[in-house]
Amino acid sequence: MSFNKFNSMKNIHKLSIAPMMDCTDKHFRMIMRKISSKALLYTEMIVAQSLIHTNKKENFLNFNNEEHPISIQFGGDNPKILSEAAQMAEDWGYDEINFNVGCPSPRVCSGNFGASLMKDPKKVAKCIESLKNSCSLPITIKHRIGVDDDDSFINLNNFVRHIANAGADRFTVHARKAILSGLSPKQNRTVPPLNYDVVKKLKNLNRELLIEINGGFTSIEESLKALNDFDGVMVGRSAYKHPLRWSEIDQKVYGIKKEPKSASKIIFSLIPYIEEHIASGGKSWDICKHLINLVEGIPKAKIWRNQISLKSIKKELDIEYLSKLTSKLEELGH
Ligand SMILES: Cc1cc2nc3c(=O)[nH]c(=O)nc-3n(C[C@H](O)[C@H](O)[C@H](O)COP(=O)(O)O)c2cc1C
Repeated sequence: MSFNKFNSMKNIHKLSIAPMMDCTDKHFRMIMRKISSKALLYTEMIVAQSLIHTNKKENFLNFNNEEHPISIQFGGDNPKILSEAAQMAEDWGYDEINFNVGCPSPRVCSGNFGASLMKDPKKVAKCIESLKNSCSLPITIKHRIGVDDDDSFINLNNFVRHIANAGADRFTVHARKAILSGLSPKQNRTVPPLNYDVVKKLKNLNRELLIEINGGFTSIEESLKALNDFDGVMVGRSAYKHPLRWSEIDQKVYGIKKEPKSASKIIFSLIPYIEEHIASGGKSWDICKHLINLVEGIPKAKIWRNQISLKSIKKELDIEYLSKLTSKLEELGH
């Protein structure tokens, strides 16, 4: 079936799976796509400069056709380089480009991009304009509610207004500020407190803008509640660690009538994909390392996950073994 861009892009932002380095690669995204046919999926952050200079662009850009709708996330601060990257993303078939102004990693910030860019709205606006003028894709931005002491509501609102004028089509706001010195990226996802009220105030003052909330969502019910105040909810760690908790996205968020899939059904449906990956020289673990998170909340779930990991360490994790273990899950109704 051919991909119908218009229908797929409509309301895609209601629920999305966050960009997460080392997690949301194309294999994890395939798993999430089996769980929800609708949720918007993001790539890991791709540094625009690295993409421009590598000879192996496909390693950065490849994705599976089933992954639509998919947003590619870029990090960078050079409008010209971002412009080239945007053209590539469009040619490669992505549905949207997201610009990262929320990453607090010292490596990223020392290149003066990621969260530190929030202190320079004019520069961010130039980057957004450049992305916008280089392709016909929607250009969205992911940012924090503030950075270090630059955390007043006035500054946040000015930042968003400035970027909206530059042409950004949607704002994903991670509802905590970033602290650039003294906290690791991991601490920056837990230590500064979440503040949904600030984002609510931002939305209320800018009703015409599409504003998606991010940070701390752990269930569909919480997300549905948040959709009363925001245009979308982005879910990160909970979707990665507990993918099956999100198995009713299509039904509850997008109103599609169908049965949610069990873990065994999802794994069985991925077997041809895993076979293809192995046949083209990949390792089963590349996919199974994400897939084991599907198995939880049943007796011996930990043993099941350990068996997969151990077989992989011994380089014996083949399709036959995976199918056998998955049949056991099916017998348990999981
Ligand atoms: C392992 C990991 C990697 C991440 N990598 C990125 C990234 O590449 N780009 C980005 O914008 N945010 C990244 N984030 C932040 C998430 O997108 C999200 O904003 C954050 O985890 C808060 O949402 P959550 O509470 O639902 O997890 C990462 C988070 C984690 C846990």
